[in-house]
Amino acid sequence: MWRTLFIASAAALPQEEHTISVYSRPIRLRPSEVHNRMDAPVALPPDLARRLANTTIAVSSFEVDVVEVVHARGRDGSFSRHERSAPLYEAYNHHFLTFLGTEEGLWRIYNHSADMDPIGGECVKPAHAHHVGGTNGHLAKKSGFSQFGGASGAEFRNNPHRVPAPYAFLLSGVTHFASVLHLIGTGGVRDHSLEHAPLLECPCTPQRHINLARGTIDGCLPRPPFRCSDQLRAQGNSGCALETYVGGYRCCEDGAFLVDTDKMPDVVRRPAATYHLKLTMTFREHLPERDIELHPTSCCDVTEPAAAAVDSFLGGNVEYDIPQCAEGTPQHECVHVATNVQPLDLSAHGDPDELVELVHAVGHLHYGGTSIELIDELSGQLVCRSVPTYGTGTAAGDEAGYLVGIQPCVWGPPPLKPPPRFKRSHPMRTIAYYNSSRAHTGVMSLWLMSAAVVDERGGAPTAVQ
Ligand SMILES: *[C@@H]1O[C@H](CO)[C@@H](O)[C@H](O)[C@H]1NC(C)=O
Ligand SMILES: *[C@@H]1O[C@H](CO)[C@@H](O)[C@H](O)[C@H]1NC(C)=O
Ligand SMILES: *[C@@H]1O[C@H](CO)[C@@H](O)[C@H](O)[C@H]1NC(C)=O
Repeated sequence: MWRTLFIASAAALPQEEHTISVYSRPIRLRPSEVHNRMDAPVALPPDLARRLANTTIAVSSFEVDVVEVVHARGRDGSFSRHERSAPLYEAYNHHFLTFLGTEEGLWRIYNHSADMDPIGGECVKPAHAHHVGGTNGHLAKKSGFSQFGGASGAEFRNNPHRVPAPYAFLLSGVTHFASVLHLIGTGGVRDHSLEHAPLLECPCTPQRHINLARGTIDGCLPRPPFRCSDQLRAQGNSGCALETYVGGYRCCEDGAFLVDTDKMPDVVRRPAATYHLKLTMTFREHLPERDIELHPTSCCDVTEPAAAAVDSFLGGNVEYDIPQCAEGTPQHECVHVATNVQPLDLSAHGDPDELVELVHAVGHLHYGGTSIELIDELSGQLVCRSVPTYGTGTAAGDEAGYLVGIQPCVWGPPPLKPPPRFKRSHPMRTIAYYNSSRAHTGVMSLWLMSAAVVDERGGAPTAVQ
């Protein structure tokens, strides 16, 4: 076990960790309004940018917050800065993506993405339908930046992303930060279990122009295209086709309002609040002889059809609906189950037989979700089960009725369990459970996983699965 010895000696190296926080540009949001786009890059503080410009850092943990920043003027005329975490019942984090990189790299991706849906890409009119390609592939194929930490939403505050050394996310030449924040102005509704709080499920309002003949929403083909698993399609899941679509991501584009603005015209004139996405990360200087680089796996989205499973992070429908259980069903039996099987970590350039080891896995579920399981399809063994928590109070991070956290599975050196190893092509089953006592639109059931390629220094693998 050369690797174990290696870790023990590495622990003795000086390994000073630094923690920094960076803030997105201000995001102005009115109640019931949607913010869903990439915000322009911001420069890191000059001292830090100078230190990081020509180095690679090993990031061992990160967390995000959505904050309101208030500058107050004191009696003596001086300004002070106050920051408060925004509760989900004011500003609901549907999901986020963060980007770190060079000025050039981030501005290039920003210039390219500014007018696009961050997941679905540009607006394509039906006549040009043959141009519709992958989903967010345009984000992944540029150089000069790294995207990490994406796609968690309301559970972001209680969703630890600390990976054990020697594993780390490696970032090079970081001088700038940019983000996509899909943020919904929920406008003070505290308990989502109240019937009148549907905004976080993105209802398609009468202002959305859904044209069934042309297959468009507001003149564009739905972004991303509808692309459900065989199971969800066979069930006629209403989130899988425009004909039956009543709410979800595709009605939640940037600038949309989620209430009927003909009936409530005043919402567009309500005062906006100003938020920032705040990323806090802990890193150390990268030592090539010590650190083992993590990358996101291509798997898993429970909506993804088997055919889409090549080179496609989020190549499925991304979302689906939870139909309400039949009237008269006992409450404890109101459970919706979705499942599919995907290869763990295929990409266009990866060898399907290459071994990878899983180090961090955490689910992304929406309100109503009760658990998500990852199962080795060949052995039937449970690899990870991620269970969300729901809030009970009013503080940010504990909002009553909201899904506010989710527990990851973390593997690594002892005392952690050893990282399970699989070939990239290994079939993995996802099973997502939702409480169906109420109907939900646009729920997501994703695995966000970090894996490392097993290279020679790992020695002979002992538990190849
Ligand atoms: C980084 O390296 C480049 C070329 O190697 C050099 O031109 C530049 O001045 C360096 N920047 C800093 C901040 O050290
Ligand atoms: C991004 O767009 C701005 C404004 O059009 C331009 O000045 C800048 O050079 C562009 N940057 C990159 C990297 O494409
Ligand atoms: C679903 O939620 C309802 C209402 O909160 C609750 O009464 C019921 O027990 C839950 N069902 C399951 C299967 O968790």
